[in-house]
Amino acid sequence: MDRQMAGCRSQGVRIRRQEEQKSGVEENYFRSSDLRKRAAPGMDEAPYYRTGITVGSPNTEPVIIVENLTARYGDVTILEDVSFEVRRGERLMILGGSGCGKSTLLKHMIGLLKPYSGRILINGIDIAQADGEALHRVRREIGVLFQADALFGSMSLAENVALPLVEYTGLPPELIREIVRMKLGLVHLAGYENHMPAELSGGMRKRAGLARAMSLDPTFLFFDEPWAGLDPVTAAELDILIRSLNEGIGTTMVFVTQELASIFSLAERAIMLHKDTKGIIARGTPADLREKSTDPRVLHFFNRQAD
Ligand SMILES: Nc1ncnc2c1ncn2[C@@H]1O[C@H](COP(=O)(O)OP(=O)(O)O)[C@@H](O)[C@H]1O
Ligand SMILES: [Mg+2]
Repeated sequence: MDRQMAGCRSQGVRIRRQEEQKSGVEENYFRSSDLRKRAAPGMDEAPYYRTGITVGSPNTEPVIIVENLTARYGDVTILEDVSFEVRRGERLMILGGSGCGKSTLLKHMIGLLKPYSGRILINGIDIAQADGEALHRVRREIGVLFQADALFGSMSLAENVALPLVEYTGLPPELIREIVRMKLGLVHLAGYENHMPAELSGGMRKRAGLARAMSLDPTFLFFDEPWAGLDPVTAAELDILIRSLNEGIGTTMVFVTQELASIFSLAERAIMLHKDTKGIIARGTPADLREKSTDPRVLHFFNRQAD
């Protein structure tokens, strides 16, 4: 009887997983970090990881596709023919020196700027062409944390975090209050609902900005130098929080940075841009870029903190 029950249960789990895979919830089960954690003791983790991402494994599934993007301000070309993909649930970092076009690329990816040519697909939707219902849908899936936390100084933390919920959902105030409370808890700010941004430290404001970026349960989170202005310890704490959110919730994350500190703690994969070529000069894991690249520009980037 017990065996029968167990059989039923495992079949139930299997069916549920099949349904979840169809509905796109599978990232919780197959994300790359999980695969690494599951490597058997004594087994070389890297080959296991590679095996894990072969043929049709969900974590190779591209959810953002940047295709031959050329970006210009007026007559000035900033990016030329840039192509890459972001995979479901991964943490991808866009690296490069100041002024090479990282923020410009990010603004194209979230639809704030339109490509001069090429296109950006988010979950299959061309973000520059989408309008009406499709644009609304894709915007709802995107959360953004810029360098400045961009909190409204005249509003409490709860009011700040509630803003997207008020704007995008028709939820009743009690439910919005409850969601806000949960989101603030997620970034370790439980109980700070009624505080004003000016009463908080820089790290707390960044976390509140993160709670607001996550208020609509986005599929994608974009960060533009979120560590700007934070001391190293606070920045490292923010990394741990971001990483735990990625691993716990499975949000796909794209970061822009020119700082080395967070690359190794956060990036699973990175692309590096360069001003001279207006394109990607390297791509791979941070360790690959640092240890295997022979490009002097890449080496310089990774060694400059020792300069
Ligand atoms: N709105 C704008 N109009 C004109 N030029 C801009 C604008 N924003 C950025 N730029 C220029 O584009 C280049 C890339 O900028 P940006 O994407 O901000 O670089 P990064 O984020 O890598 O430091 C820089 O030379 C910058 O001066
Ligand atoms: Mg920038």
